[in-house]
Amino acid sequence: MSEFLIKPRIQFGPNALTALNDVPAKNALLVTDSAMVKFGLAERVTTLWQQRGIRFRLWDDVVADPDIATVVRGMKVMDADYPDVVVALGGGSVIDAAKAVIYALHQTRPDSARPRPCFVAIPTTSGTGSEVTRFSVVKSHTEKLVLVDAFMLPDIAILDPELVVSVPASITADTGMDVLCHALEAYVSRHASDFSDAMAEKVVRLVFSYLPTCWRQGNNLLAREKMHNASCMAGMAFTNASLGVTHSLAHALGGMFRIPHGRANALLMTSVVAFNADYNGQCATDAAQKYARLAHLLDLPASTPREGVTSLLVAIHTLKDEMALPAGIRDTGVNAEQFEQQLPDMVAQALRDSCTPTNPRTPDTALLSALYRQAWHGDSWDSAAR
Ligand SMILES: NC(=O)c1ccc[n+]([C@@H]2O[C@H](COP(=O)([O-])OP(=O)(O)OC[C@H]3O[C@@H](n4cnc5c(N)ncnc54)[C@H](O)[C@@H]3O)[C@@H](O)[C@H]2O)c1
Ligand SMILES: [Zn+2]
Repeated sequence: MSEFLIKPRIQFGPNALTALNDVPAKNALLVTDSAMVKFGLAERVTTLWQQRGIRFRLWDDVVADPDIATVVRGMKVMDADYPDVVVALGGGSVIDAAKAVIYALHQTRPDSARPRPCFVAIPTTSGTGSEVTRFSVVKSHTEKLVLVDAFMLPDIAILDPELVVSVPASITADTGMDVLCHALEAYVSRHASDFSDAMAEKVVRLVFSYLPTCWRQGNNLLAREKMHNASCMAGMAFTNASLGVTHSLAHALGGMFRIPHGRANALLMTSVVAFNADYNGQCATDAAQKYARLAHLLDLPASTPREGVTSLLVAIHTLKDEMALPAGIRDTGVNAEQFEQQLPDMVAQALRDSCTPTNPRTPDTALLSALYRQAWHGDSWDSAAR
């Protein structure tokens, strides 16, 4: 028996933010970060509440890649004046922090007089899809822990493309590559299904069609809307199908060297695709066939699995190049000696990451070390392919 869970109600398109007016509230909590305040996005939410005379509080000190201390701060804020509505406005970091706070408070202070608040997620990056996933990533020292529980799923997700036009080009590139990685990993996951495949296929086409435009022309509302929808659909695919070792390796790399999540995925993606496809062997894996199918959907040469995988690898490399993303880990400023020194720890973390079991091929310590070292140099799956 398999399951495909679709939880939040999704309000999308230009002006979708006004859907917040349909959410009854007496005492609301807005979880956000300082950038949302600076760009005036937090005010767009609080103005709606002011107009309706709703009492609200603002908790705006969520940090990027939230850690346990951030979650504890949020629990204190939420506990002090328990809200009936929590709105998380921000990127994956803000939404994940809100999820972890709601979850941890419920676990530590269960009280039937305080029902779980209505939880509204409003993403302001097109990346993590956290508004529709049962995951929350929280840092403990340098390690990223992945909490998994459907309790954290928002009740409502609001996808308003106007809220992403202010995302700078480099963050657009990082987060957009995260969307692509979610689709690729969900598509070849051991838990992939017809349902998640349908989402993933659409996402891959949307990313290659619209991400470069978002990067070049941040105020192109149509391209932003398409990427925002793609991000959410990728979230729906991977919350059900889960992910793979690109994410396991990226969690450890990003936690250790403070590389943004999407960028870490972009650095590792082609090495993992080549591994899953057995590109340097027979290229006869199920994953190779599925990658070739994606290449076919992108109208790229794919008459054999090997040709299809080559096309996909080149397309990913070209997309990264087009958006001026670093090719290898060595191009991100990470010190070579420190990288080698931390490698065993990162590999151990990646092996125990909750994304590893659903990768289509089972990796071991030697293999994950080899993938890191390959990604250090850049997109080097096969220099003859380019
Ligand atoms: N829960 C999940 O399912 C899931 C999935 C993938 C990743 N993650 C986690 O999510 C986090 C990454 O989230 P992210 O990639 O969205 O980045 P982010 O939330 O860390 O945001 C990156 C930066 O962009 C800024 N920003 C956000 N929206 C903006 C806007 N509209 N205009 C201008 N600046 C804006 C933020 O203030 C921040 O400085 C990581 O911790 C990652 O591990 C979670
Ligand atoms: Zn991700």
